[in-house]
Amino acid sequence: MSHTVEPRKKKTTTQTFIQMKKRGEKISMLTAYDALTAGIMDESGVHSILVGDSLGMVVLGYETTLQVTMDDMLHHCKAVSRGSKNALLVGDLPFMTYQVGIQDAVRNSGRMLQEAGMHAVKLEGGREREETIKAIVSAGIPVMGHLGLTPQSVNQFGGFAVQANTAAAAKRLLEDALILQESGCFSLVLESIPARLAEVVTNRLDIPTIGIGAGAGCDGQVLVTPDMIGLFSRFTPRFVRKYANFHDDMLDAFSRYILDVQTGGFPGQEQTYEMSDAEWEETLRLLK
Ligand code: KIV
Repeated sequence: MSHTVEPRKKKTTTQTFIQMKKRGEKISMLTAYDALTAGIMDESGVHSILVGDSLGMVVLGYETTLQVTMDDMLHHCKAVSRGSKNALLVGDLPFMTYQVGIQDAVRNSGRMLQEAGMHAVKLEGGREREETIKAIVSAGIPVMGHLGLTPQSVNQFGGFAVQANTAAAAKRLLEDALILQESGCFSLVLESIPARLAEVVTNRLDIPTIGIGAGAGCDGQVLVTPDMIGLFSRFTPRFVRKYANFHDDMLDAFSRYILDVQTGGFPGQEQTYEMSDAEWEETLRLLK
């Protein structure tokens, strides 16, 4: 066992996030989509678990996150909340569940808490979400914002490229971040933006920033778990560090299993149930 972090026994809340920023303590966040992974993650002491709509790409086999539905998210959020005890659970609002109308946005956010056991919701976008965020927050639901590369807008961006890398776009992103804070967000994800910009945004805000491809100057970091454990192998963004190679380990395990089945090497004695010789003799007599 190579635990280097003492697992925490206390629940993380949105207030913990704010206090951690004040104390200069870094926040760790990872994505999960099932109870098994969420349980291990919780045991590891991670501060927060995001049930991201990356679900669509890394678990459900879609090309983008756009196909993910509210029902998909509720199903996986429920599983994560069954598996986790202490982490702050954030559920991603999928495409078209908060963009069409404010009432929809509030209702769908409420379902994340009421039906799926999440503690907060995350949504993508800047100033255009101001009124929506205010309405969700005023219903008592904590909101995490998401700026920079917002994957639900992939068709506008033309791909998953770095964002806000011009002076004008950087200025706009900082303005958006301040508007999201003012609207009531308790935290912001900054995805795929220049590290220098992320650091300035982080220093200008009272709420914590959680970076993914946004450098070390953010208040915390998030990674998509199947990327960081080397399970998702279709492509790996530059900002991912692989802490394991589950793809190769699983491929090796599956291949050895197939070989064992084909050669009669599995199951062995240790994986086999037996009955006493006396009972077996009696069984043979009854079966005659
Ligand atoms: O969907 C997701 O997993 C996310 C992270 C990349 C922040 O939004």
